[in-house]
Amino acid sequence: MRILGIETSCDETAAALIQDGVKILSNVVASSVELHKKTGGIIPEVAAREQAKCMIPVLQEALQAAKCKIEDLDAIAVTVGPGLIGSLLVGVETAKTLALVWEKPIIPINHLQAHLYANWLNSQSARQLGNRQRSVTSKIPKFPAVGLVVSGGHTDLVLIKDHGEIKWLGGTRDDAAGECFDKTARVLGLGYPGGPEIARLAQKGDPKTYHLPRPMAGQKNFDFSFSGLKTAVINLIKSEATILDRKADLAASIQEAIADVLVKKTIKAALKHKVKSILLAGGVAANQCLREKFNSQSSILNSQFKLYIPAPALCTDNASYIASCAYYNYRPTPWEKITAKPGLEIA
Ligand code: KG4
Ligand code: ZN
Repeated sequence: MRILGIETSCDETAAALIQDGVKILSNVVASSVELHKKTGGIIPEVAAREQAKCMIPVLQEALQAAKCKIEDLDAIAVTVGPGLIGSLLVGVETAKTLALVWEKPIIPINHLQAHLYANWLNSQSARQLGNRQRSVTSKIPKFPAVGLVVSGGHTDLVLIKDHGEIKWLGGTRDDAAGECFDKTARVLGLGYPGGPEIARLAQKGDPKTYHLPRPMAGQKNFDFSFSGLKTAVINLIKSEATILDRKADLAASIQEAIADVLVKKTIKAALKHKVKSILLAGGVAANQCLREKFNSQSSILNSQFKLYIPAPALCTDNASYIASCAYYNYRPTPWEKITAKPGLEIA
């Protein structure tokens, strides 16, 4: 089965062709990040205007790259939420129009749930598309699984009993992990998005230099809080005039604090629920320090569960996992019933 995925929830305009939920035939992403770098963050209307311009060329490229004719296509999957309303509408209304004109089934997709399906995509085809880094494994995850979705707007820990059977275990009470990277990067005078900037700078820094708070790390629940970390960084900068000369050490310490909390709580959830797999997903899962910490923890606890981390290019927003999610959660819906849902939750 060949599914066309469409993703426009934030600032990307993306389309992908996926076969049987695992094989990437094409994966095209146009990003307006260069425009947002100038403003230090996303201006929703600027993002949506760019998406309206890019949508058709991106679709055309995805179909051509997959050598897929319209008659070879079985269904269309589209992100309906959560996300920015103007951005979502571009993808949702395009998908509905195509479904009607091409007479194809359409499947509405939750962007957060879909992020997890990057773990089902065959890493070999991702490599062919330019990813040098391998995923941890190319085998299909087993249930039950614990999923950690860490993106710019969300930090959620979920228990997945089967496809479509998701229970929310906990999440951030304030800022998301990606938001914490983005906001602290801004405080350090780094560019947008902040995660990759902090990660780059941190390579030259010592993570033990500053002991930043690990909020809620020791608590029994599966919630997170990251806004205190940002405040701690601001206070450090205020109290130590020369600290900005040691930006690399500070970046490494911030990254370490965020990664520590994420690893600790996720492993705790995996052990409590005796799962077979841990699935990482979302833009922050592209972070090398976080990936290494998870890898070393899971090798210590080797036999208990298997760790899945998507190739970095599949962690950040793209349409491949939208189509994969639709394959495993195949629920065609009449186009009249499909609407953009900016406030959708993961479960
Ligand atoms: O999943 P995503 O691409 O978009 C959303 O759905 O939000 O995640 C974007 C977030 C941003 O906050 C960005 O700073 C963060 O992911 N990010 C990273 C890295 N790459 C992207 N954070 C840390 N290290 C990275 N390498
Ligand atoms: Zn995302």
